[in-house]
Amino acid sequence: MLVSAKEMLNKARAGKYAVGQFNINNLEWTKAILLTAQENHSPVILGVSEGAGKYMCGFPTVAAMVKAMIETLGITVPVALHLDHGTYEGAFKAMDAGFSSVMFDGSHYGIEENIEKTKEVIAEAAKRGISVEAEVGAIGGEEDGVIGGGEVADPDECAMIAGLGVDMLAAGIGNIHGVYPANWKGLNFEVLGQISQKVGDTMPLVLHGGTGIPEEMVKKAISLGVSKVNVNTECQLSFAAATRKYIEEGKDQQGKGFDPRKLLAPGFEAIKATVKEKMELFGSIDKA
Ligand code: 13P
Repeated sequence: MLVSAKEMLNKARAGKYAVGQFNINNLEWTKAILLTAQENHSPVILGVSEGAGKYMCGFPTVAAMVKAMIETLGITVPVALHLDHGTYEGAFKAMDAGFSSVMFDGSHYGIEENIEKTKEVIAEAAKRGISVEAEVGAIGGEEDGVIGGGEVADPDECAMIAGLGVDMLAAGIGNIHGVYPANWKGLNFEVLGQISQKVGDTMPLVLHGGTGIPEEMVKKAISLGVSKVNVNTECQLSFAAATRKYIEEGKDQQGKGFDPRKLLAPGFEAIKATVKEKMELFGSIDKA
């Protein structure tokens, strides 16, 4: 069932668990994530970055694929199709294409421009029952050209953006995309606590960069108001490792092992296992 992310995230915020956003890259990814959500009675958010959207032949192709797959596979758990780190133009294009949720990432604009553009996206989304995620401006984090600590948001700016009527708010607390460097300092729970206090205890917060954050930190972040955790790289790593193993064992050269339906099967199963593991950690199993 394709729905906006609003209700599933409000429920998660109230129930102190988080819904996973798993980014999709192709048909196998989408099918693996949808089936895992259904098997585990978990709500789920399919994330699509602008780059992945282009790779999959544009937002209309993605929306058509997801809608058809939900129907064909008999997916009854709540599924949101969400634009990840959308530009202002991208957010409108995704809404036109049939996405049920969009992130407008105005964090690289000054706070005034971020507010103005976020307001425009919210106004359009409200007309169509689409949920909106906004991101708040970053403060520092760079040393010798290496981003070690990740970005840390200003709690007052978070309150300003949250007050515009967004459905979920991404605020940097030292989290970064991809694999964390060895010298990473961890999540900044002090700032997360301040943000949570300023935006109120009903606003779902979003933790980007879910790959590689130690489990205890993820649980603590959820206890402080994180209701959506984004995971992308970890599924890619699982898929790549399983595919590598299959090829290194020479299985692509046995019988019809080169058939893509066989070649991609171990990676597909690996994505399912990673998604299930994350759903268990986030506490979203049996919450559909
Ligand atoms: P990772 O690739 O680090 O899991 O981050 C995903 C993400 O935050 C997508 O917005």
